[in-house]
Amino acid sequence: MSSIKLVGFGHYVPETIIYNDDFKEIIDTSDEWISSRTGIRERRIAVSETTTDLAYKAAYMALAESNINPNDIGLVITATMSPDTFTPSTSSKILERLGINKAMAFDINAACSGFVYAINIASGLLAQNNIKYAIVIGAECLSELIDYSDRSTCVLFGDGAGAVILEATNDKGSFYAMSKTDSNNILYANAIRANDLFLDNNSKDYHLRMDGKKVYLFAIDAISDAINSVLRISNLNLSDIDLFIPHQANERIIMSVCKHLNLDFNKFYLNLDKYGNTSAASIAIALSEAYHNKRIKKNQNILLVGFGAGLTWASTILKV
Ligand code: ACO
Repeated sequence: MSSIKLVGFGHYVPETIIYNDDFKEIIDTSDEWISSRTGIRERRIAVSETTTDLAYKAAYMALAESNINPNDIGLVITATMSPDTFTPSTSSKILERLGINKAMAFDINAACSGFVYAINIASGLLAQNNIKYAIVIGAECLSELIDYSDRSTCVLFGDGAGAVILEATNDKGSFYAMSKTDSNNILYANAIRANDLFLDNNSKDYHLRMDGKKVYLFAIDAISDAINSVLRISNLNLSDIDLFIPHQANERIIMSVCKHLNLDFNKFYLNLDKYGNTSAASIAIALSEAYHNKRIKKNQNILLVGFGAGLTWASTILKV
């Protein structure tokens, strides 16, 4: 497998904070219920910004910190399930805003696993196309898909974006990845079409819907499988991993995985208390935060693990 390393990190969340107690004004809930079941205490909501705005701000930070010339970027991939336009892609608009003069650019949708899928795809494309640098972004405005009268979903999600700059390297043994999908509809959101305007108002539901209990059980199996699979591919052991950065959905899911795999909970980087579940953005934001908080050091093995709608799951081991 071709190798990559991470040479730039950025993240951005909108200013508006919604605290758990704020939901009491619209649904029957409590801070105690939300925080004890999920670990989430607050989340950010984009009031006037779009998914492209969030993606741009995260990518700008990563590019500025890396000191790489925008024209040396040959590939931009954005993972999102809430783009503000079907076409052009978010990545296409990012090219223009960052002043990148022509590059391969497209979006992917693998729901909450999207950022890890995108890193995996980028690693292959860098090698095949002789590209030195790529920007991989995870960005979401999930608040646009949420039914704020459905208490079982609306308290879980938030908006934000994270980005990394990947550099192609010849260092063998520094990058491993796996990605899987198994068709299932326990978590879904219908796409709106221009001609849906002719349907009865209530005939189609466009909100994000989820069978929380089934997703919960899937998540524990998926994370365990993703971690074990990428370790097998890499010939590394659990003890070789310095930091795990999981999709930030629910603290109890991570606790169950730790029990299942006999892992130290403190080896997992979590920030879901501040941002909730930001889908494809969650691992990207956590990765950038962990880097800036100095939880990641040079040459450490970092394991990213995602799981989400599809159902999808994916993991990668990489280095800074
Ligand atoms: N406040 C108060 N009560 C609530 C709330 C709320 N916000 N939401 C649900 N309840 C109620 C339910 O109505 C139910 O009441 P009832 O017994 O009177 O019917 C009761 O709480 C228990 O509901 P459960 O669904 O059994 O609660 P559970 O303990 O399973 O927790 C939760 C629900 C937190 C959603 C959990 O199932 C979960 O975390 N699932 C995984 C969700 C997830 O991570 N999804 C995303 C992953 S993939 C992706 O990111 C796209």
